[in-house]
Amino acid sequence: MAFEAMFQPIQIGKLTIRNRVLSTAHAEVYATDGGMTTDRYVKYYEEKAKGGIGLAICGGSSVVAIDSPQEWWSSVNLSTDRIIPHFQNLADAMHKHGAKIMIQITHMGRRSRWDGFNWPTLMSPSGVREPVHRATCKTIEPEEIWRVIGNYAAAAGRAKAGGLDGVELSAVHQHMIDQFWSPRVNKRTDEWGGSFENRMRFGLEVLKAVRKEVGPDFCVGIRLCGDEFHPDGLSHEDMKQIAKYYDDTGMLDFIGVVGSGCDTHNTLANVIPNMSYPPEPFLHLAAGIKEVVKVPVLHAQNIKDPNQATRILEGGYVDMVGMTRAHIADPHLIAKIKMGQIDQIKQCVGANYCIDRQYQGLDVLCIQNAATSREYMGLPHIIEKTSGPKRKVVIVGGGPAGMEAARVAAERGHDVTLFEKQDSLGGQISLAAKAPQRDQMAGQVAAVDGGHIGGQQHCQGLGVVPVQKMPVVPGQLVQRIQRCFQAGSQIGHADPARLCRAGAAQEVQADIGRRGAVRQHFKRQDLQVVGRQAMVLRRHTALKKAPGVLRHALQVGHSGGVRHVDAAAPLALAGQPHGQR
Ligand SMILES: Cc1cc2nc3c(=O)[nH]c(=O)nc-3n(C[C@H](O)[C@H](O)[C@H](O)COP(=O)(O)O)c2cc1C
Ligand code: SF4
Repeated sequence: MAFEAMFQPIQIGKLTIRNRVLSTAHAEVYATDGGMTTDRYVKYYEEKAKGGIGLAICGGSSVVAIDSPQEWWSSVNLSTDRIIPHFQNLADAMHKHGAKIMIQITHMGRRSRWDGFNWPTLMSPSGVREPVHRATCKTIEPEEIWRVIGNYAAAAGRAKAGGLDGVELSAVHQHMIDQFWSPRVNKRTDEWGGSFENRMRFGLEVLKAVRKEVGPDFCVGIRLCGDEFHPDGLSHEDMKQIAKYYDDTGMLDFIGVVGSGCDTHNTLANVIPNMSYPPEPFLHLAAGIKEVVKVPVLHAQNIKDPNQATRILEGGYVDMVGMTRAHIADPHLIAKIKMGQIDQIKQCVGANYCIDRQYQGLDVLCIQNAATSREYMGLPHIIEKTSGPKRKVVIVGGGPAGMEAARVAAERGHDVTLFEKQDSLGGQISLAAKAPQRDQMAGQVAAVDGGHIGGQQHCQGLGVVPVQKMPVVPGQLVQRIQRCFQAGSQIGHADPARLCRAGAAQEVQADIGRRGAVRQHFKRQDLQVVGRQAMVLRRHTALKKAPGVLRHALQVGHSGGVRHVDAAAPLALAGQPHGQR
């Protein structure tokens, strides 16, 4: 089988995982009702399981105690038994499709906001402020240290009671455990600071308490960095010593490695490498840790495609590859690799819209995939063929929205024509991709245009007929569109602004915006509109009658930015009951 190394099962502790690919912990900002893994959360992860992933470590930075506030990232709250039934739903959804699910648990210490829920006083080993989050924190007292250790154990017990397959202790992004490790921020002179053993003590006591709570068979791992990347910070050699120290306790089942610290803006940028970084920039640090430990080593950082993943695994640098944003962009990544549909993968382009949203306290969304995390609304990742009438669909504007509309309509089995006045598809994305170190933006076009190997083949393979260099003589465009109406088409104005700019469609805009003649025309012809303009029309006409999914997508789109309006609307159409299209 191609990419065989990816599909080898692996044993982690007592757990057998079906392949070597995982989604590492990321704060999704989806947990609702005080940090519960409710419907949206479960469906987001279930999609990855359906798509063939081996393991997902969910709940990045999930909190074990209320003085590590969960509200601002809507993270998962393991400080209460209320979470247990929610975990049962999550575990069932993953196991049903053969995937394993763990959760990352943590106390973030100083790395949080001062105005979190309940306005707690943040704590850290020595009350040193963190440059990224900038919250004032107090020095943690010994009795609070022991209480927090107990909180970790109780949280791990809840993950086990809820049927999850394991926990990962976060000691990676300057959370409480690695705040104790680092002499930059741990200035204590008591038994919790100073010597190597003293600085390791908090993490060790957490590990002991967790292991005692969950027993020997439950999977327990730790995530740490390979180098803090500060002149006065923990070096790669220091991190190897730390990894070996915990591995030697025999209480760990795996170690996850991230190639950088995270407590300054520069190091944070390393952690989630954007499109200007090379592939797997910090693999050597993970490989360095692997050299000194016995347990399996997991690593994610800019591993995006199967050739790369296979090369890393075959080289034996690490035992499992994290393809985290790769799965945000396409949760069916593994299934597509397996089926040889590599050209149909929606590749993560490293635009980091996802993490930017998270840092604003907003739910994680993806510029490549409007269905991601909207699974709970019924937006499909796999577009099914229509069982209704096959229609002619005309789409005006071959930017990403128009192309996505074309793709979805074509996958439904409709007969699609895509008009674009330029000689190439992609719209303003093609322009953006010309900026230095922004070339991967072009992948956004590639995703609907046939990926890196096919040019426009994917869309054309689906039967989309692109009409490029469309003449934009005033009046002519309107005539062409009207001819399509007469043929009984649907029409999508993916980018009416483009038409207006071109000067060709002032009539169209006037009709849509003011006189409503086109709207009337649509009504008479039983036509529907997809794309940005749909909002306007729907708002005035059929919004109230539109099926729930479409209505919701349009509303989300309206408040969520143009890109998502455009991309979500056609997908929403795909999710409508047949009779309504
Ligand atoms: C939106 C987002 C949130 C993240 N939050 C966490 C987190 O809470 N804990 C953590 O250990 N890593 C977090 N990460 C880092 C990822 O686990 C992963 O290391 C990173 O995305 C690089 O891997 P990738 O290139 O495969 O995406 C986050 C990443 C993203 C994109
Ligand atoms: S938003 Fe950008 S970086 Fe994040 S997963 Fe999607 S394509 Fe990748």
